[in-house]
Amino acid sequence: MMDRRQFTGTLAGAFAAAIVPRASFIGRELRDAPAINAARLNAHLKELGAFGANPQGGVSRVAYSDFDRAGRNYVMGLMRSANLDVQVDFAANIVGRRAGRDASLKPIVFGSHVDSVPEGGNYDGTLGSLSAIEVAQSLAEQRIVTRHPLEVVIWSNEEGGLYGSRAVSGQLTAAELSNKAWSGKTIAEGIAFLGGDPSRLADVRRRRGDIATYLELHIEQGGNLEREKLNIGVVEGIVGIKQWEVTVTGVQNHAGTTPMDQRHDALLSTAKFIAMVNHVVRSEPGRQVGTVGRVQAFPGAPNVIPGRAVCTLELRDLDASKIDRLYATIETASRRIGEEDGTTFDYKSLHENVPAPSDPAAREMIESAAKALGFTTRRMPSGAGHDAQAMAQLGPMGMIFIPSVGGISHSPKEYSTPEDCARGASVLMGALLLSDKR
Ligand code: HGY
Ligand code: MN
Ligand code: MN
Repeated sequence: MMDRRQFTGTLAGAFAAAIVPRASFIGRELRDAPAINAARLNAHLKELGAFGANPQGGVSRVAYSDFDRAGRNYVMGLMRSANLDVQVDFAANIVGRRAGRDASLKPIVFGSHVDSVPEGGNYDGTLGSLSAIEVAQSLAEQRIVTRHPLEVVIWSNEEGGLYGSRAVSGQLTAAELSNKAWSGKTIAEGIAFLGGDPSRLADVRRRRGDIATYLELHIEQGGNLEREKLNIGVVEGIVGIKQWEVTVTGVQNHAGTTPMDQRHDALLSTAKFIAMVNHVVRSEPGRQVGTVGRVQAFPGAPNVIPGRAVCTLELRDLDASKIDRLYATIETASRRIGEEDGTTFDYKSLHENVPAPSDPAAREMIESAAKALGFTTRRMPSGAGHDAQAMAQLGPMGMIFIPSVGGISHSPKEYSTPEDCARGASVLMGALLLSDKR
């Protein structure tokens, strides 16, 4: 059901088609750059939002779900309409290829993801995916053939931990294939569900130098651009992320007959752990963040002292050594909580995204493309993880941000205006053409 905001968005989307006039690039190298079709892009964003739509307005198109598979089929249809040769690789990434004038050149790869977090928003990943398709379609419609081959990629299971892109960059370990995804399937089951083959991930592996450039457009998922009234963010680097599953073990017992001083309450220790994580992460200057995003108590009955609790720990920073230092402090402090309560803490690593600086030349191309359109820009880090950080292992990477209204993301309230979506896609087109000329 289209709410008022979406309806206005569609109208504004049509208007946006006007504000990005044809061949509006004044830059020397971008004189003949085609404009993207802003109304079509915003219509596709609305249509994709229907797959896994939540009553409260966002999506729960979690990786490997029926909604994910249906949304991917819709997107593959758009890719074919954009004259891309579409295949699903063994890691279940959707790859749309277009030949360039010089087959000896490495491909320019650009795209994002269409899976969401539970109760996520309509723009995280989908903007970059649909804009990449829009760029390919506009190039095809205007018969512009780039020098480099092009690859539009829709990565599988980005939100669970960059699984599809890390399979390509060689950072995915066999042990992770048994991790459980939000859909309830294991990673291996999910890859197969989407048409991949978890036994052949080695065949999708690419090496450094196999790509000319990787570009990704994404919503900022923070409030800086909106607060500073700027159009485009030029990403300097993407934070590293480490996630663990933490199992706290105590003694299950009767909630009525066990005196308070004789309990080994796993959930009480977990509560102390959560407060301690917040204290440790905030105890030193910097942009590091730490989150406990999920807690489960077992057996979970009101009249039973939890004998076991399982929670997640996630630490992020641009500096991987700071993540390791914070983890060591947390792990030591948790042992003290265990001694106090007669409980134990066990940590199981879930996955790791290595921090990745963007490529200086890619930053300049994004800035040139934005300035050629008369858009304002600023350089900034990404506190969110992205497939671009896996791709940075293979070649020069550049990321483009547009403003998130209210800085909100991973929420049904996630929203970016049709005009900003159009601006982002136009900068993606310009940056791609500039990297093609280099
Ligand atoms: O979690 C993240 O930072 C990203 O949105 N996957
Ligand atoms: Mn994302
Ligand atoms: Mn996300």
